Amino acid sequence: HASAVPLLERYRQFLPITAQTPIVTLHEGNTPLINVPRLAAHLGVRELWLKLESMNPTGSFKDRGMVMAIAKALEAGSKAVVCASTGNTSAAAAAYAARMGMECVVVVPAGKIALGKLAQALMYGAKLLVIEGNFDQALDMVRVLAEQHPITLVNSVNPYRLEGQATAAYEICDVLGDAPDYLALPVGNAGNISAYWMGFKRYYEAHRSESLPKILGFEATGSAAIVRGEPIAYPETVATAIRIGNPASWQLAVNARDESAGTIDHVSDEEILAAWRDLSALEGVFCEPASAAGVAGIRKLLAAGSIDPNGRFVAVITGHGLKDPQLAVEQFSVPQAIPAELSAVVAALNL
Ligand code: F0G
Repeated sequence: HASAVPLLERYRQFLPITAQTPIVTLHEGNTPLINVPRLAAHLGVRELWLKLESMNPTGSFKDRGMVMAIAKALEAGSKAVVCASTGNTSAAAAAYAARMGMECVVVVPAGKIALGKLAQALMYGAKLLVIEGNFDQALDMVRVLAEQHPITLVNSVNPYRLEGQATAAYEICDVLGDAPDYLALPVGNAGNISAYWMGFKRYYEAHRSESLPKILGFEATGSAAIVRGEPIAYPETVATAIRIGNPASWQLAVNARDESAGTIDHVSDEEILAAWRDLSALEGVFCEPASAAGVAGIRKLLAAGSIDPNGRFVAVITGHGLKDPQLAVEQFSVPQAIPAELSAVVAALNL
């Protein structure tokens, strides 16, 4: 059964795996690619698919890159890993480190990481450091830390992370039989957009797909360093996963945009939240806010007339909605309790 084969085995020929590389797995990858006609009609595109990276073992796409990074760290004899994170990288690092008996140190910004992600880092037993600063500052520090101490950096500046994340592009081509016309996704530290483009190119060059997609990346307006063309010292957005002001893979992301004849644009918090609710209410796909940026961006570019509504679109749903239940509940007024009587229920339903 193909899904029972670990990701590192399944795409072995496309990954930097040697006879010495341990095949680590929590059964990451092989995530669903679902067709979403109701959301497509709502947006005004002919064909839309969602790549549900939220269905990975720790609830985000980071597992693909982390399984590769951890395997290579083990192969090199490392006993500890470190990362800066807005929450998902730390969850993935902590989980795979726990699985393989390694130490894990994670550095996260105070007050700006979703509750579920905090719970994961704690439960998986990471050494958690909460800094009075943002992601960019945390990344600057862990880069130096990893240079000066025997601890492996597992942020996406570790090249094995992007290699692992490229497998999502292979899976999309394998399911659709070719690359889509457009691939839309959120951009934070800009690793994932770079990994997808690398993956699509590599698959195309290996004759496993017949075309290349246009890459559509979306930053949050308050954190849109690449769109603005300069780093942002105090990035802001409700989508805390992509609250990043100086993306590490900036140049790779620009290359992905330009080589694919795609776009990197920004979407407002309001646009992100609207797409976030649509994904849940129209298709039953509850993702975290940042993950809705791709769909929000497709809506924006359609309105601007800069993309073809007759194209085949894939939007990457990068992380699960249960990561950030607090923000979800805050969007609604939770109903007051009523008496535990049938008459009260009937009255409340206006029957
Ligand atoms: N979506 C989610 C849910 C994320 O957690 C991230 C990044 C992104 C999109 C953007 O991906 O950084 O490769 O451009 N999260 C990182 C973290 C920064 O620490 O978990 P990117």
